[in-house]
Amino acid sequence: MSELLAVGRITDLDALGPAETLESYVGRGGYEGLRRALSMEPEQITAQVDQAGVVGRGGAGFPAAAKWRMAAANPGPRYLVVNGAEGEPGSYKDRHLMARAPHQVLEGIAIASRAIGATTAVVYVNRLFAKAGAALEAAAGELGSSDLAKALPKLSVRVEHHVYIAGEETALLAALIGRPPWPWPKPPYPAERGLYGSPTVVNNVETLAHVSAVLRLGPAWYQNQRPILFSVTGDVSTPVVVESSLGVSLESLLSQAGGVMRGDEVAGVLPGGYSLPWLGADQLGLAMDPVALAEAGTGLGASIIVVGRRRGLGSAAAAIAAFFARETCGTCPICVTGTARLAEAMAAGVDSGLVPERAEAVESLAAEHRHRGICTLLDTAAAMAQSAAPRLVSHGRRAGAFTPMATKQS
Ligand SMILES: Cc1cc2nc3c(=O)[nH]c(=O)nc-3n(C[C@H](O)[C@H](O)[C@H](O)COP(=O)(O)O)c2cc1C
Ligand code: SF4
Repeated sequence: MSELLAVGRITDLDALGPAETLESYVGRGGYEGLRRALSMEPEQITAQVDQAGVVGRGGAGFPAAAKWRMAAANPGPRYLVVNGAEGEPGSYKDRHLMARAPHQVLEGIAIASRAIGATTAVVYVNRLFAKAGAALEAAAGELGSSDLAKALPKLSVRVEHHVYIAGEETALLAALIGRPPWPWPKPPYPAERGLYGSPTVVNNVETLAHVSAVLRLGPAWYQNQRPILFSVTGDVSTPVVVESSLGVSLESLLSQAGGVMRGDEVAGVLPGGYSLPWLGADQLGLAMDPVALAEAGTGLGASIIVVGRRRGLGSAAAAIAAFFARETCGTCPICVTGTARLAEAMAAGVDSGLVPERAEAVESLAAEHRHRGICTLLDTAAAMAQSAAPRLVSHGRRAGAFTPMATKQS
């Protein structure tokens, strides 16, 4: 039995069928984790999550327990904020979870709130998939006035604009209080001073779904199974959200997405969405595991984007550089100029064929911009260009726009 329940084609959420009902969720052991948590002290809950080794699924892979402890150590009131912005191109897992397994997310929210001592939880939902937020609200309504409903924090679902930078946790907190979604420099971390100046844990939707599974099935089960959701998109035949285990090979995920579309071949893969460096076509045997990916110079993120030879790695890399130049929030001048210069250099490189000297120029421009912005957007843009440039020398020129969202969104 799938523990996270979000397997499905990436398509209109309606076409995936209705959300799992309370009856069906309870039938597969749902809310047993919450019942267990209610009989535990908050630190005991956090210790289970720590033992399981749950790390954040919003992209940074930060240990959930460490963040919870930091918030719990600061005087309340405390808040839990659920990051359902999912603005990362190619990522669909969070909207699927909210829409299809809302009780699993709700249970994680209740458990995390108890662990950190939060009486209010705010769910930030991207308006592109407002229906997913409505499914969460309906699931909370299904609990009626049961004892489980009493264990939920006060829940507020906020449907907000689709702005890429608003997914960054401090920008998201700013948006929630009606300010422009601009990141702030850390420290202070949200767990110290977040929503309304109070300690706030910001967790990704999938992270909280993992928490429910840990409390229900135990840390040993979790460590053994290492469940995870992968969105596999880009130039594949059937973009999918797949529930699998850490350590699965990239090749196996690619075949679950029907292989590369129209008989094309892989030019490169982004195993961590737009945010982490490229893998080459010769690395498909690699295990999707944080350690193996780090050794290969990249990492695990919110989505896996496959680029075919017809599109070409060059046009994809140039389009991604242009994406960052468009999405910078403009707070740091160096990010505005840096992302623009990187985008221009990548585009020029692709247009003229990236000769080794030009590739070196892109790499050194990227190196100049590493670790320079308030948030990691500039660093990400630089790392992306830095990893693409040497690969482009051999891949050469391809034109065309890059659109990883291969199918309709909802
Ligand atoms: C530019 C940018 C965009 C981000 N977008 C998202 C997003 O859409 N969803 C998300 O969960 N985290 C996103 N993050 C990461 C969040 O800042 C934060 O690390 C995450 O919500 C923490 O939850 P976790 O510890 O459960 O992963 C983004 C970060 C950056 C720098
Ligand atoms: S690094 Fe870029 S996106 Fe991040 S705060 Fe600075 S200007 Fe905004």
